[in-house]
Amino acid sequence: MSILDHTDPQPGEDTALPVSFPAHFLWGAATAAYQVEGAAREDGRALSIWDQFSATPGKVFQGDTGEIAIDQYHRYPADVALIKSLGLGAYRFSISWSRVIPQGTGDLNQAGLDYYDRLVDTLLAEGVTPVATLYHWDLPLALHERGGWVKRDTAYAYADYAEVMARCLGDRVNMWLTHNEPWCVAYLGYGSGEHAPGLKDWSVVGTVSHHVLLSHGLAVPRLRANLRPEAQVGITLNFTPGYAADNQPVTLARTEQALREDRWFVEPLFRGTYPEGLFADLHTDHPPIQEGDMEIISTPIDFLGVNNYTRTLFQASEDGSQGVVVDPVPGSSYTAMHWEVYPQGLRNLLVWLHEEYAPPALYITENGSAFLDEWDGSSDTVHDPQRLAYLRDHLQAVGEAIEQGAPVKGYFVWSLMDNFEWAHGYSKRFGIVYVDYPTQRRVLKDSARWYASFIQRQRELHQA
Ligand code: FCB
Repeated sequence: MSILDHTDPQPGEDTALPVSFPAHFLWGAATAAYQVEGAAREDGRALSIWDQFSATPGKVFQGDTGEIAIDQYHRYPADVALIKSLGLGAYRFSISWSRVIPQGTGDLNQAGLDYYDRLVDTLLAEGVTPVATLYHWDLPLALHERGGWVKRDTAYAYADYAEVMARCLGDRVNMWLTHNEPWCVAYLGYGSGEHAPGLKDWSVVGTVSHHVLLSHGLAVPRLRANLRPEAQVGITLNFTPGYAADNQPVTLARTEQALREDRWFVEPLFRGTYPEGLFADLHTDHPPIQEGDMEIISTPIDFLGVNNYTRTLFQASEDGSQGVVVDPVPGSSYTAMHWEVYPQGLRNLLVWLHEEYAPPALYITENGSAFLDEWDGSSDTVHDPQRLAYLRDHLQAVGEAIEQGAPVKGYFVWSLMDNFEWAHGYSKRFGIVYVDYPTQRRVLKDSARWYASFIQRQRELHQA
């Protein structure tokens, strides 16, 4: 039975949007290894920086960890069946480096490689396109102990790891992302310390960002050499664009600074340079750039992955001395992360990226919202009208960006299911599918049913 035959009332929202999407647009959902897999100590997996960080008291809300997460390591057959039943065309997952190369370099763990083999085969058997992210923040702990991303060696270790995965899955996986959100790796992981490995050392943030970018550039040819000719290689960046609420010089200066931060990674990738003034803004040392690094980093890629959730609005402070964040924005609604809902920001971002950097293709690799969902403990529905509206309005914005010329080829909702939301632990639910953590039962939210109906309608429109 398809979930669309479900006997519960359908979510009252119409799936018709006044925009159209191209045929073959990829409709998907995303997750990441540490957030969903669990099985943290099974079958030869070694620890990553996130295992260590979440086990450190005070780092993650209520001491939550990804030790069990939503147990996708064991439940992937049922989860893939669910993906199929929603009619999703693609599933974006990430690979846990320490599951496949436990010490980060050296010996491979065959049991770990076998897991991703099975996951990919199961997806393909259901007609779902696998989209693999090589690094979604879970550095093998052994590499961290050797200096982590502060050390240039980690970039070379990463490129070796990328080749291992391409050799293993490259005959079947045609879409690869080298990194997820290097901004978070550098800024949250080594600067603010909100994420693993939890360093609070702004001086190294620029260096970390450079080594992550270098690892990407080193990996691209190593991947391509082992993938099919039609395979697509890209990277995912996060953007939180800044907007100015007034014309005061302090507001405009603060908004310009936010823009430099949004260019931090995209500028070296597409233009081979870092934005002028960026490292001073960040109070970080200038990275140790060696000859040839910027050419390596700007190796052409096939697409840019875009993660976007919200924007930041600035205004002049009351005394006029500086630009400050407007919070809350009058008239705006907010998600449970206290992120402003601003769909037109996604449209503007996609058009801006297209006009500024002309990537060959754009994919929205993450977009979604956390709300305080409640399940009654027995029914097979969770009502999430705010998430449904968020999804609908953001898809509308994506359609508008396409109409304005942005070459958007796919959209992945974050997330397929509720999961371990990093420093927030399990307290923030982003899934279109609810997970009852004690029983691991999966319950469709209205947003999942709406998305499934929407995708089906898109297919029908293109078949007609
Ligand atoms: C992004 C992360 C993803 C998820 C969402 C909410 O920054 O890439 O893993 O946590 O935020």
